[in-house]
Amino acid sequence: MALSTSDRIVVVGGTSGIGLAVAQAAAAAGPQVIIGSRSEQSVQQALGDLPEGARGLQVDVTSPGSLAAFFTEIGPFDHLVYTAGDALVRGVIADYDPLQAQKFFDIRLFRALDTVRSALPTLNPSGSVTLTSGAAAFRGGAGKLLGTTVSAAVNAAAVSLAVELAPIRVNVVAPGVVRTPLWAGMPEEAREGLFTMAGGGTLLGRVADAEDVARAYVSLMDQDYVTGNVAVLDGGSILK
Ligand SMILES: NC(=O)c1ccc[n+]([C@@H]2O[C@H](COP(=O)([O-])OP(=O)(O)OC[C@H]3O[C@@H](n4cnc5c(N)ncnc54)[C@H](OP(=O)(O)O)[C@@H]3O)[C@@H](O)[C@H]2O)c1
Repeated sequence: MALSTSDRIVVVGGTSGIGLAVAQAAAAAGPQVIIGSRSEQSVQQALGDLPEGARGLQVDVTSPGSLAAFFTEIGPFDHLVYTAGDALVRGVIADYDPLQAQKFFDIRLFRALDTVRSALPTLNPSGSVTLTSGAAAFRGGAGKLLGTTVSAAVNAAAVSLAVELAPIRVNVVAPGVVRTPLWAGMPEEAREGLFTMAGGGTLLGRVADAEDVARAYVSLMDQDYVTGNVAVLDGGSILK
């Protein structure tokens, strides 16, 4: 089912960064977009960056009740995109903290799967699910332990879900470093230094903008013969 103007696309985490860029790119392609995230203020602000016809609803993916109310309110829809995430956690094994690791996995993996479960009753059987992991799944490094393991887990989950949920298609976008508000907690100088260093580690000489990555989500929704696939959007850093 290639994208059409009658399609409805739900972007969970669609109020910021990659998710907001996906909502903008998807709306520009014609479908109606419905964004959701934890903060009502983020929802209202993001709606200002989307065309008329877009909807926004508050949802906290850590609450099964909130997820159920969200999908009940939306009703039938065609494509689910999950981009919810929280601050990155870097650290070497000597600093490993199981509780911190659980929290890091929670929103990126466990709540992503719960969001899929909650969406299924109202998701079009000809539609799709697109999850988010990270290119770190394919290239480890000291300090990247949690990012690498959770990204690999999301990729693996999608392979199983693609089989189980067919003909619903299930894919993943695995970005390298993307310039988004996710990095806002870092001092500006350190953040720009990281972007310069990470960009230098790609074949294309720069980190991604959210719009670069958003096009991959739209393409995976539109391309109706792709499932169980991981689209790596890393500027070729794995090859360098
Ligand atoms: N940026 C990168 O360099 C990069 C690279 C690889 C992978 N990724 C992954 O891509 C995903 C998106 O990253 P991003 O850079 O777009 O981050 P972002 O700009 O910080 O956006 C995160 C979104 O998740 C929402 N969210 C957080 N907690 C939520 C909850 N409990 N319930 C519902 N929504 C919630 C936020 O909404 P509120 O504002 O309402 O809290 C926000 O809309 C993350 O999983 C991240 O790990 C990012």
